Amino acid sequence: MKKILILNGPNLNLLGTREPEVYGNLSIADWLKLASERFSDVELIHHQSNVEGELINILHQYGFEVDGIVFNPGAYTHTSIALADAIKAIPAPVVEVHISNVHQREEFRRHSFISPVAKGVIGGLGLRGYDLAVEYLKDL
Ligand code: DQA
Repeated sequence: MKKILILNGPNLNLLGTREPEVYGNLSIADWLKLASERFSDVELIHHQSNVEGELINILHQYGFEVDGIVFNPGAYTHTSIALADAIKAIPAPVVEVHISNVHQREEFRRHSFISPVAKGVIGGLGLRGYDLAVEYLKDL
């Protein structure tokens, strides 16, 4: 069975209650429940951290064993060279996912340190983007 890590960065623990007009009403727990039914042929592992170093440790821990990583780095997308280096250091393909369309928002959200080292990027499709990333990674 393919193993895929869903990794969420800062503030994404508040999905469902955080700015619902931007990020929607579904919590990660809700999404995981739906996704585990939809992708019954995949082992989905979920981690979330608000701490940059913890996200790096999780990438190191899983990056050598899973078949792919769906990564929403939250605001670290726009700031973190360390996360980009961690992705470069692991063999697992990473799909960068954003719930909102970062290009429709503030100027500072347009730059990503993650995109150049990600296999692909999905944004603006809500949590549907996570499904599409899993769909892609499981068939790789
Ligand atoms: C986000 C977009 C980021 O700019 C923001 O800081 C987030 C969430 C998204 O999923 O749309 O925390 O990654």
